[in-house]
Amino acid sequence: MMTAKEIRDSFKSFFESKGHHIVPSAPMVIKDDPTLMFTNAGMNQFKDIILGNHPAKYKRVADSQKCLRVSGKHNDLEEVGHDTYHHTMFEMLGNWSFGDYFKEDAINWAWEYLVGVLKLNPEHLYATVFEGSPEEGLERDNEAASFWEQYLPKDHIINGNKHDNFWEMGDTGPCGPCSEIHIDLRPAEERAKVSGRDLVNHDHPQVIEIWNLVFMQFNRKADGSLDGLPAKVIDTGMGFERLCMAMQGKTSNYDTDVFQPIIKAIAAMAGTTYGKDKQADVAMRVIADHIRTIAFSITDGQLPSNAKAGYVIRRILRRAVRYGYTFLNQKHAFMYKLLPVLIDNMGDAYPELKAQQELIGKVIKEEEESFLRTLETGIRLLDKTMEDAKKAGKKEISGSDAFTLYDTFGFPLDLTELILRENGMTVNEDEFNADMQKQKERARHAAAVETGDWITLNEGETEFVGYDYTEYETSILRYRMVKQKNQTLYQIVLSKTPFYAESGGQVGDTGVIVSEFETIEVVDTKKENNLPIHIVKKLPEHMDAPMMACVDTDKRTACAANHSCTHLLDEALREVLGTHVEQKGSLVTPNSLRFDFSHFQKVTDEQIRQVEHMVNAKIRENIALTEHRNIPIEDAKELGAIALFGEKYGDEVRVIQFGSSIEFCGGTHVSSTGKIGMVKIISESSVAAGVRRIEAITGEKVEELMDTIQDTLLDIKSLFNNAPDLNNAIKKYIDENAGLKKQVEEFMKEKASQLKARLIEKATVVNGTKIIKSVIPMPADVVKDMVFQLKGEISENLLVVIGSVDGEKPLLTVMMSDDLVKSGKDAGKIVREAAKLIQGGGGGQAHFATAGGKNVDGLNAAVDKVVELAAL
Ligand code: SER
Repeated sequence: MMTAKEIRDSFKSFFESKGHHIVPSAPMVIKDDPTLMFTNAGMNQFKDIILGNHPAKYKRVADSQKCLRVSGKHNDLEEVGHDTYHHTMFEMLGNWSFGDYFKEDAINWAWEYLVGVLKLNPEHLYATVFEGSPEEGLERDNEAASFWEQYLPKDHIINGNKHDNFWEMGDTGPCGPCSEIHIDLRPAEERAKVSGRDLVNHDHPQVIEIWNLVFMQFNRKADGSLDGLPAKVIDTGMGFERLCMAMQGKTSNYDTDVFQPIIKAIAAMAGTTYGKDKQADVAMRVIADHIRTIAFSITDGQLPSNAKAGYVIRRILRRAVRYGYTFLNQKHAFMYKLLPVLIDNMGDAYPELKAQQELIGKVIKEEEESFLRTLETGIRLLDKTMEDAKKAGKKEISGSDAFTLYDTFGFPLDLTELILRENGMTVNEDEFNADMQKQKERARHAAAVETGDWITLNEGETEFVGYDYTEYETSILRYRMVKQKNQTLYQIVLSKTPFYAESGGQVGDTGVIVSEFETIEVVDTKKENNLPIHIVKKLPEHMDAPMMACVDTDKRTACAANHSCTHLLDEALREVLGTHVEQKGSLVTPNSLRFDFSHFQKVTDEQIRQVEHMVNAKIRENIALTEHRNIPIEDAKELGAIALFGEKYGDEVRVIQFGSSIEFCGGTHVSSTGKIGMVKIISESSVAAGVRRIEAITGEKVEELMDTIQDTLLDIKSLFNNAPDLNNAIKKYIDENAGLKKQVEEFMKEKASQLKARLIEKATVVNGTKIIKSVIPMPADVVKDMVFQLKGEISENLLVVIGSVDGEKPLLTVMMSDDLVKSGKDAGKIVREAAKLIQGGGGGQAHFATAGGKNVDGLNAAVDKVVELAAL
């Protein structure tokens, strides 16, 4: 039996033997495509080639790609665990032809690989072909069908509709008919009863699609119409885990060696075995699937968070935790303990997992722990909701309560329903769905972007010249309109551009495009599928005039200083804190730099200083930049250049070197470190478990900070009459102040005791009870002290009511002797009621209570109210 690893390797060597170049998997988290958060198909990393943004270096390519289908057009999340063949993360084996071979070879080689190499039984295979679509004006894909007919009897070739057999990357862009290969894995007796043909595309767990061959020959435009693609593309994707299931004679992906070690570890932890209990099995599949997704996402640089891609990862983790909590009795963090097994299983194919094991473990553990706290709060809330419903004689809780639990506490509806069922209750599902719908619409509305088609003015490829120039003669290749939130912007692609497009943490250049007729402002430059796009608010009126693209050089220079400084900082951090420091995020702007990195405790003040000193020393050394442009990646590694996890590198890379600081980098830099001027770290904080953040400024910004600090200091000095020893002068002032405070307190106490005597004299008696009441300006603690003294002196039949003003705040204080309390009077209740007159609230015990308020003018009335309420 072939192992998963052998299967993966055999795919790559087969296509290598057919002239394909084998490329590594791209990261799972996508950075430069506004339509996608995660890689959801093998073709994503070739989108720039398929879209014609760049020529293909290799016309035939194959790989195994880590994919995630948890958001957007392809989202399998809710299915995962409940069946045996859906996953959030999976590997997609694929081969591509960019304008080279087309349907015939794609089909021949798919067959040769499955039947010739892997020896799958051809009688169990089916192929689907596109049946055509009159509304699109497309005919049946007879071409593909005729190639299949060489291998398959006609009844194993099935027509499929647009939904199943016309593959589109998104709402617009390259697309085309596809042919899927399905396999029937059922036992012979079942196959004899019902033909596999009738089960293809019917959600049968053992009659499943394993390979999709997409024949991209069209481009879908914004108005929905189809154009021909200049260069036809073959894009195939085979579900690796499903192929493993077929090859290993299993009936579930989860029974293969891809998942079994993880499932066994989960079962051992939960003290059970897989296959014993339906719900526990679902939970184990969910967890086995999700731990891969979470670990790989963190590896590729996506930490769980509150927004966008980070939120998707957080939700997946929470889904796994609550399945473990509910069905496997895991009340403490447990997912992180599965990491060693996962790494044992996949660490060889994906060494980046092994390299970051400590960080991944820390992040998962902390996320789990914080969610478990939320989960318990949610469960308490649900208990209360059920109790309230029961009291009101209801057996159903409202859909919005269930939605709050879903939205705020991560309780999917099925969990809420389960808990309700155990209590003989239900939820109003329609209300829940309505709330969910409303939220989705809000999100859709907020994210709605209307993008026009590209209008091409000149053919050609764009060239970035910004490493050498900040001004360059250029022309417009194409442009399009983008409308979002009532704002219309235009995106322009230039033939040559000095503008740096936002990437690698460095913000995009701004500047102008100038012709003899007009000047157009470029508000930002971004990268989309590797294409630099200049964002402008208005299109030039003379689109074909000769133009100059001019970068705002002040901003560029400041950015370059901050970017180079980031490299020096990275090196110094590794030196001071250790080589576990890995970049986890970076933001380089003209004003400052921000650097996130893995490190497991706070960076001490002393360490920060050490880092600053090191970087400043390097700045003073004025080390010249050595730029290695377009060097083979192997040579870069040889140089010892630092690469980033989660970054996609080609065969040729750019390396930025300042002496011993050597990094893979596409950013813009200073020509020598002296130009950075100076660095000052202005903050150090935590971003997530195991990830710290440093913010720093350089050059002029340090100068500005120094000026502010100096001005403040001078102000303070002049406040202290320019005392030569400022420290001592301040200390003396503080000591003096403390001494005075003490004196004032003593003075107050004395005054209070005189006052006390006067109050006793002035006391009135009603029905045998002595009433002492007054409104005085006194600090709260002095009043408290005094009323307790009064009670100590007069132990029976006493009511004391003091209205006082401390600073500007009114305070009501009530004290009663114990006999009054015994007779049923309650100072707490009385004070609460009377406090309304000073617009306040308070309480306390039955014999002593206070209330603060906002309205000093109501104090007299409040004091009288207390006497009235005491009803003596
Ligand atoms: N793009 C196709 C898919 O995702 C084939 O790789 O199914």
